Amino acid sequence: MKLIKKIAPFALAAPLVLTGCGGNNDTKKDEGTANKDTAKSGTVKLIYARGKDTTNATKKIVEEFNKKHPNIQVEFREMPSDSGKQHDAYVTALNAQSSEIDVMDLDVVWPAEFAQAGYVLPLDNFIQKDNVDMAKYNKGAVAAASFNGKQWAMPKFIDAGMLYYRKDLVPDGKVPKTWDELIATAKATKGQGGTKFGYLMQAKQYEGLVCNAVEFIAAYGGKVIDENGNVAVNSPEAIKGIKKLVEVAKSDFVPDNNNTFTEIESHTAFLEGQGVMIRNWPYMWSMVQDQAQSKVVDKVGVAPLPAGDKGSAATLGGWMSAINKYSKHKQEAWEFVKFMNGAEGQKISAIEGGLAPTLTDLFNDQDILKKNPFFKEQGFVNALSAAVPRPVTPIYPKVSEIMQINLSKAIAGQMTAEQAAAEMEKQLKDALKK
Ligand code: GLC
Repeated sequence: MKLIKKIAPFALAAPLVLTGCGGNNDTKKDEGTANKDTAKSGTVKLIYARGKDTTNATKKIVEEFNKKHPNIQVEFREMPSDSGKQHDAYVTALNAQSSEIDVMDLDVVWPAEFAQAGYVLPLDNFIQKDNVDMAKYNKGAVAAASFNGKQWAMPKFIDAGMLYYRKDLVPDGKVPKTWDELIATAKATKGQGGTKFGYLMQAKQYEGLVCNAVEFIAAYGGKVIDENGNVAVNSPEAIKGIKKLVEVAKSDFVPDNNNTFTEIESHTAFLEGQGVMIRNWPYMWSMVQDQAQSKVVDKVGVAPLPAGDKGSAATLGGWMSAINKYSKHKQEAWEFVKFMNGAEGQKISAIEGGLAPTLTDLFNDQDILKKNPFFKEQGFVNALSAAVPRPVTPIYPKVSEIMQINLSKAIAGQMTAEQAAAEMEKQLKDALKK
C-alpha cells in the first residue's frame, strides 16, 4: 500500500494536463510556425531518433507509417542505448537549435528539463485539434509527460523492473519473494544447467543503476526525495536498501565485471543461457521468446521483483515521443507521433517489442496478450500501477549523476552505505537548494 502512494505526485498532476490543453499563446506561436514550414509540396523527410531498438518494433512502426503516408517518409536515426548518453546527444543538438531531428523519444525522467529548456514543442493544440482522448492513456504516464500544465510528449510505453527466472532451474513454487531469498537462490543455483551467474542486473555507473537502486531503497521503505520534494535518502530505511543493493552487486553470483553491465550486457548473458535470474524491463520478454536470438525460449518465467521489509518495488520507467521545437516539419512530425503512440503504433510496440502500452485498453487486446501473457498477470499489473517514480525535477540529470557516483563508490567498496547516503543527502540538498 505504501508503495502505491509513491505514484501520487504523478496521479495528482494529471488534471493539470487536461486543464492546460489549448489556449496558450506560446503554443499557438510555435504551431503557427509549423504550418508555414510545412506548406510545401512534395515528400517531407522526417528524422525520428531513439535509442538502439534490439527488437523489430521501430522498423515496423516506421514501415507502416511510411506506407500509409506516402507524402511523409520517416527515417530512423539510432541513438546510443544508454539513456544518459542519449540525453546528452539531444541536449547538445537542441542547445544548438539544430532542426535535424524532428521527433525523438524522451525517457520518463526528462520532460521537466526539456520543457523548461524549451527544447520540445507543447502538443496541446495538436491533441485538441485531432481530438486525441488523453483519458484513454495511463494517467501516470500522461502526467509524467506534462509539466507546468502542458503536454510535452505522448506516452509511448511504461516500464517497470521485473524478475525473469529460469523455470528449469527455479521451480515456480520456489521463485524468490524477498531479496534474501533471491540471494540464497542465486547462490544455490549458480552454475546449474550451464549457467555462470545466479543473478544479472544493471550496475554500471549510468541511469540503469539508479533504477536498480530505487527498487532496493523503496523495497526497504526508503525514498530518495519525499512527496514534499525534501531529500530523504539518508534514512535508516534507504540505507538498508543501499546495503542490500551493495550485497547483491558485490556477490560472487553476479559477473565479475558487473559494474560494466547495462540492460544490453545483462540481457545478452541471459539470452545466452548464462544467468539463472535477471532484473530487467518488459522488453526482454520478446527477445527471450525469439528463437533467432535466445537459447532460453520457453524456459523463462516472470515475477515481481523480490521484496524488502516494506514490500516489492519496481522503478517506473518508460519513454514518450516529443517534437523538436526547431523541427521544420512540425505538422508531419505530429502525424508520426500520433500514429506511433496511438493504438496502431502501440500495438506494434507491444507485439514486436514486448513493450507495455500506455493506452490502457490495449491490455485487453488478444493479439498483445498472446505475445505477452504476463501482461494479464496480477503481479505485473500491480508492479506497473505501483511503480516508484524517480525524482521529478528539471535538474534530474544532476540528481541522477549524484546518485550514480555515490552508489558506484559504495558498490566498489570505496565508501559504506551510510557514507554514500550521507554524501547523496549533502549533494542533493545542495543541487536542489533544499
Ligand atoms: C529503460 C526505462 C527508462 C530508464 C532506462 C535506464 O529504458 O524505460 O526509464 O531510464 O531503462 O537504463
